[in-house]
Amino acid sequence: MITVLEQLDEAVQRVRTQSDLVPEIGLILGSGLGFIGDRVDQPARIAYADLPGFPVSTVEGHAGRLVLGHLAGRRVAVMQGRFHYYEGYSLEQVAVGVRLIGRLGARLLIVTNAAGGIREDLMPGDLMLISDHINLMGGNPLMGRNLAALGPRFPDLSDAYCRKLREQARAVAERENIPVREGVYAAFSGPSYETPAEIRALRTLGADAVGMSTIPEVIAACHMGLKVLGISCISNLAAGIGKTPLSHDEVQETTQRVQETFSRFVLALVGQIR
Ligand code: HPA
Repeated sequence: MITVLEQLDEAVQRVRTQSDLVPEIGLILGSGLGFIGDRVDQPARIAYADLPGFPVSTVEGHAGRLVLGHLAGRRVAVMQGRFHYYEGYSLEQVAVGVRLIGRLGARLLIVTNAAGGIREDLMPGDLMLISDHINLMGGNPLMGRNLAALGPRFPDLSDAYCRKLREQARAVAERENIPVREGVYAAFSGPSYETPAEIRALRTLGADAVGMSTIPEVIAACHMGLKVLGISCISNLAAGIGKTPLSHDEVQETTQRVQETFSRFVLALVGQIR
């Protein structure tokens, strides 16, 4: 049987038939920012369907693909379309893109998502640098035999959302005149939104925002020694905090509304983080 590592190396070779670009920065972009992949200069585009080990995407709208090229003067690898645990993939499958990006040579990873705001000062439309996470997804992408070629059995997560990158991000935000907050991101598996009782519990646990993604990718990135910058767009008040029921429409409306600012921030970050 072909191992995960062999499959990953086959995916690398598949990419290398299209591009020899060694990315500095990987990007995994959540709702509303996927179009950044279309801004990549001199792009090489590889459909996930052509990458061994990649799940066949159920994402509606467009088929997922990896885009390699230049953005804001840096060499990047952008995942256009991400995998979610709630789609039925294993957490290891959800993390396959990060692992490929890491194997292609990236040392930095920018991940974004939409999240419900739990902390009272977080309002829809706010951008939040993720300072840490609480994994309530019910599993870990590193379960099973450790792939020692990628990283250690028991990786340290005490600086998972790199403090130095966050400092740089705050400086970039200031220069760009973009207000940013900072907080702890928690995730359940989804796809149902949380109950008000779960949100109260999360608040007690120290979570500031809640979503259904990002954590598996970040764990896999840390395993490989990548430095991570995570940013949430607060798209709604979490369950039981606002007066209205939660809806995907509201999430999309908010991400649309902040799309321009958020993408400007991400592009400035790509250009300036080290
Ligand atoms: N909960 C979980 N995931 C989310 C939310 C939320 O309130 N908003 C956007 N993604």
